[in-house]
Amino acid sequence: MGLRLGDIAPNFQANTTLGFIDFYAYLGNSWGILFSHPADFTPVCTTELGKTALLQESFASRNIKVMAVSVDDIDSHHNWIKDINETQQATVNFPIIADEKKVVAVLYDMIHPNASETQTVRSLFIIGPDKKIKLIIVYPASTGRNFYEILRVIDSLQLTSNHSVATPADWKQGEDVIVVPAISTEDAIEKFPKGVKVIKPYLRYTPQPD
Ligand code: BEZ
Repeated sequence: MGLRLGDIAPNFQANTTLGFIDFYAYLGNSWGILFSHPADFTPVCTTELGKTALLQESFASRNIKVMAVSVDDIDSHHNWIKDINETQQATVNFPIIADEKKVVAVLYDMIHPNASETQTVRSLFIIGPDKKIKLIIVYPASTGRNFYEILRVIDSLQLTSNHSVATPADWKQGEDVIVVPAISTEDAIEKFPKGVKVIKPYLRYTPQPD
């Protein structure tokens, strides 16, 4: 059975473009993103890794460390990075795992044989500082991921891990949030001094608390 939300993200050691890395040591107390790519020198992957590099400041300001996985070898990765930097006007300086033996790909269930026997799908795991898996998304090879959506989800995960709130559909940083059902309206009024708007007994909004 594959990994599920709330599971501990398995640790591993891997050869990467930044040297041999222990995943947990790399993460330290940060949040983490581990994401797979079908293959080096493929067009969609090139744009995804370029975009991730261009958003480096956005990931760093949220205390997130990024690591990519591809099942090609290290020389191929280094050559591909030159192309990514050139074509995407980016500087890739996060590690890309050379997972030739598919150790990480299998550990994280990134190969879906009915999609491809040999290449990984586009899996992405967000891992909390407690090393638990907070989010899993899986896209097919033909569809590049939206990295602004990933940043938006991280904003929600970080907010909701610190406050008794949830975020509504299409929520963005700074917008009103939802009081979790476990809190009574009476307690919510005390807990959220910016105010509580009751639409239904189960649907209550409050300004973003942080
Ligand atoms: C790509 O990254 O461009 C890609 C990889 C595998 C299949 C289709 C597209």
